[in-house]
Amino acid sequence: MIVLGLESSCDETAVALVGDDRLILASRIASQDESHRPFGGVVPELAARAHVERLTPMVAEVLGEAGLGLDDVDAIAATAGPGLIGGVMVGLVTGKALAMASGKPLLAINHLEGHALSPRLADADLEFPYLLLLVSGGHCQLLAVEGVGRYRRLATTIDDAIGEAFDKTSKTLGLGFPGGPAVERAARVGTAARFPLPRPLLGADEPHFSFAGLKSAVLRSWQQLAVQDDAARSDMAAAFQTAATDCLVDRTARALALADGPLVVAGGVASNQHIRAALAALAGRHGRRFVAPPPWLCTDNAAMIAWAGVERLGLGLVDTLEAPARARWPLDPGAATVRGAGVRA
Ligand code: KG4
Ligand code: ZN
Repeated sequence: MIVLGLESSCDETAVALVGDDRLILASRIASQDESHRPFGGVVPELAARAHVERLTPMVAEVLGEAGLGLDDVDAIAATAGPGLIGGVMVGLVTGKALAMASGKPLLAINHLEGHALSPRLADADLEFPYLLLLVSGGHCQLLAVEGVGRYRRLATTIDDAIGEAFDKTSKTLGLGFPGGPAVERAARVGTAARFPLPRPLLGADEPHFSFAGLKSAVLRSWQQLAVQDDAARSDMAAAFQTAATDCLVDRTARALALADGPLVVAGGVASNQHIRAALAALAGRHGRRFVAPPPWLCTDNAAMIAWAGVERLGLGLVDTLEAPARARWPLDPGAATVRGAGVRA
């Protein structure tokens, strides 16, 4: 079984072909970093226009690379949300057109489910259930993953997502775009102890997250600094990364008591080596297995969308050509709104 996956929910245009044997036959990711860099963040309309230009040729390139035609594919999986709605519509409509033209089933994939199941693409031994820390540009959640389509949200952020905090910190320090990798690079040579920063919600009973206070503390502390040189930039990046990691570890430690199975991390921020090492150590202390996909599979890609398609197709969970595009689409629709939450999908 082979699934063609399309991803276009943010600023990466991506196409991949993945088999049910976990073989990634081809995977391409076209980053739009150059277009968005002058604005210091993703401009939704620019992103949508770039998807229109790149996505269809990339489908042809990926099929060509694998030496396959549409006839050889068993289903078309496209991200149907959540994300920037213009881009989501481009990918979903392209997926519908390909499904219609080929007569193959459509799988309308939740981007978050793509991240949530990506560790199972990377690790054939990872069975359900597992405790998932999902850390990306728009989300920071702890989920009990009980099966495909079966997610119990244990915790979420009450304000900013952690990726957002990395991106804002990068902007404050003038480290450039995209922010997460820039902060990680700068932090490598920094001294975290130079700047004391808060660790919001540390020790709180419920495993929720908060990053807004940490983000503002970075800004205040930076603005008060007399000499804003490269050394200070690295030290502040390290102080922020250490504080954010402490929060992730403390909150995840609470959630370990609430869910069985290995500790798994996924999403763009999971490509951060400092965070991966801290979570691996946490899992070790609790005698739990730790699983993290390779960094390229953590940041946005289409292989994870194709893989979620493989998992859903195997269960017969196909969609109709009427599948809607969704800006918001929670993995656990039943989860209660958390006090202070800036209500996110
Ligand atoms: O999963 P993703 O690629 O897109 C979303 O679904 O949001 O995550 C993007 C987020 C961005 O905020 C980016 O700055 C962050 O992941 N990120 C990182 C690193 N690489 C990407 N954050 C920290 N360290 C990194 N190495
Ligand atoms: Zn993502």
